[in-house]
Amino acid sequence: MKDLQFNRHRRLRQSETMRALVRETHLRKEDLIYPLFVVEGENIKNVVPSMPGVYHISLDNLQAEMDEVVSLGIKSIILFGVPAEKDELGKQAYHDHGIVQEATRFVKERYPDLVIIADTCLCQYTSHGHCGIVKDGKVLNDETLDLLAKTAVSQAEAGADIIAPSNMMDGFVAAIRHGLDEAGYHDVPIMSYAVKYSSSFYGPFRDAAHSTPQFGDRRTYQMDPANRMEALREAQSDMEEGADFLIVKPALSYLDIMREVKDRFNAPVVAYNVSGEYSMVKAAAQNGWVNEQEIVMEKLTSMKRAGADLIITYFAKDVANWLS
Ligand code: PBG
Repeated sequence: MKDLQFNRHRRLRQSETMRALVRETHLRKEDLIYPLFVVEGENIKNVVPSMPGVYHISLDNLQAEMDEVVSLGIKSIILFGVPAEKDELGKQAYHDHGIVQEATRFVKERYPDLVIIADTCLCQYTSHGHCGIVKDGKVLNDETLDLLAKTAVSQAEAGADIIAPSNMMDGFVAAIRHGLDEAGYHDVPIMSYAVKYSSSFYGPFRDAAHSTPQFGDRRTYQMDPANRMEALREAQSDMEEGADFLIVKPALSYLDIMREVKDRFNAPVVAYNVSGEYSMVKAAAQNGWVNEQEIVMEKLTSMKRAGADLIITYFAKDVANWLS
């Protein structure tokens, strides 16, 4: 044993203070973006069954929720709307008094410093549940772009600080940028769902948003989980079209993609820790099979280590609490 040569990695692990000194990745409250589902109607605060701890909230109940979010030190929210009525063209998405527009006004008035991100898509608003205009069983690309630009402009008008288009039509960043600029919103950034896979991890969200496609699936517009080069092409065209942030979604099964996007593009990268990733932890934790806090902190830290600058997560309130 005497002449044995090897590296002593354990030297830097011997105490919590030593480990803290050499820790490479840090999760901060400022990294968190909290998703909220706002619904039309009164006095509603209903738990989403497949997402314990996540609620459908009507505007009259939003104040209490926002007070909590802000007092925890969360700096940003992303709003998803669940409208009372749906139609073929998703008109409530771009209605001046649509649920996201109204919720944005409500929050902006009370918390002017909070960053409000508006999700820009049609699937919660269309009767068929697809993210674009449907004709003869096909989701039309270019015809949908006008509606997306219209939605984004109405959200900016209501006070949204960032527009986050999640629909995966080609050219959506260019169309929305053009629409926003024409309406005078040059300063409103676009957080593009640039790399969005067609994923089974969205299942609980579709329960929450009532946005399950009524026929077929989203594979003609969302990406094949098997593909890597395709993700880089998507990110590249969104950058060229003027995206200010790039989202990679889902997060956990796509950490390799997140790292590549971070290394190749000079824009903030956002991990979307999606609904299925949330529900699986919740279910296991409720059964006592995992330690929820430790699992969640490990997962979110791994997203940051993979290159995420920001994380959209349903765990945001819990994490903010744990970080306090
Ligand atoms: C809408 C949209 C979806 C999610 C965010 N925006 C669902 C989908 O594409 O079906 C999923 C979010 C989650 O699972 O948490 N286009």
